[in-house]
Amino acid sequence: MLELTEEQQLIKQTAKDIATDIIAPLASEYDAKETFPQKSFEALRDAGFLAMMVSPEYGGSGLDTISYVLAMEEVSKACASTGVMMSVNNSLAAHPLEKFGSDYIKDNFLRRIAEGGKLGAFGLSEPDAGSDPAGGKTTAVKEENGYVLNGSKMWITNGGVAEVYVIFANTTPELGHKGMSAFVVEKGTKGFEIGPKEHKLGIKASPTTPLNFDDCIIPSENLIGSEGEGFKIAMNTLDGGRIGIAGQALGIGQAALEAAVNYANIREAFGKKISQFQGLRWSIADSAMDMEAARLLTFRAAKLKDQGKRFTKEAAMAKLYASEAAVRSADMSLQIHGGSGYSRDFPVERYYRDAKITAIYEGTSEIQRVVISREIIEKKNYS
Ligand code: CAA
Repeated sequence: MLELTEEQQLIKQTAKDIATDIIAPLASEYDAKETFPQKSFEALRDAGFLAMMVSPEYGGSGLDTISYVLAMEEVSKACASTGVMMSVNNSLAAHPLEKFGSDYIKDNFLRRIAEGGKLGAFGLSEPDAGSDPAGGKTTAVKEENGYVLNGSKMWITNGGVAEVYVIFANTTPELGHKGMSAFVVEKGTKGFEIGPKEHKLGIKASPTTPLNFDDCIIPSENLIGSEGEGFKIAMNTLDGGRIGIAGQALGIGQAALEAAVNYANIREAFGKKISQFQGLRWSIADSAMDMEAARLLTFRAAKLKDQGKRFTKEAAMAKLYASEAAVRSADMSLQIHGGSGYSRDFPVERYYRDAKITAIYEGTSEIQRVVISREIIEKKNYS
């Protein structure tokens, strides 16, 4: 394991304390009722974990990406729905506002998230454009009063509970990805409607909604960066987001591994604890190694980002490996739990349902392989 600085150790311990004392005891209930984890959100907001990497100038905690990964793992170990709320706010909402936004955007919207404790969301996917966001149909037409948005977005994490939405739309559709721009749209803007919550397999406490824009007029100042820069803003933002989702996957996979060990040390069969059976021991050994490999890949991507180096390939590797390791770990753990694991009496069925999404959102495993193979084959980026 990477040697942590004193500050990083403190962040990890603080996240662990909040996760153990506040988030974990509520996770099953929020999941069963499919309600937003309000108390978990408040605890993380009050600890400064929802704008961890934002500069203190705008009310953020000014921490590094390693600290973010450490906190994401601890939080997601307790509740993956809370984990994605935190990851989207940090990586997909705060980051593009700070990195690409004007002073106006930072003062009005980033500050609202970091200082005001309001949530943000990220609207890129559309009903017919998920893996291929350049194929999105939402338009933003410049008029005298600002931009007029029309179209719809789908699969929006924090939909409805967020106040600040980073939205991608075509300002010059004939230019394809080069005609895409990024905007801030505030909840409550006329013509901006939040659709009904999706009912999902997992991360049930995280609200996921569609967004609809019907002649929605937003001020010109809400443009993030320049016209035509949207696709690159989205890609750069997702590079960082994938490190956050890798952290979420680490938490789910680790929780499943520890649950398997605890159960195997209690459950008896054929006159002894099932942890004494070699076949089961080897599953646990493989899973522990899998999670550690995922953790090292994730720290490597985070470290490169903190050093200001390129990390596109490493973030894709971390997200791909950690998400698939989490799925494997949850499957292994549920198998060890047997019938008990299939019931809601144990949290492992939740880990099993929650793990799968990490291999889908912020770029499917197949898209991560596209990113990695392009870096290796076309760019010869082996380092
Ligand atoms: N950083 C900066 N720029 C980048 C970049 C990166 N990581 N990757 C590509 N670009 C630039 C390229 O350099 C290129 O620039 P030029 O036009 O100047 O040449 C431009 O973007 C287009 O690049 P590509 O030709 O590679 O684009 P593509 O259309 O082939 O797509 C892709 C590449 C990797 C498949 C990309 O479409 C992708 O990542 N798809 C997945 C989308 C995704 O992750 N969606 C998740 C939705 S969000 C979500 O899940 C939210 C939630 O709430 C949890």
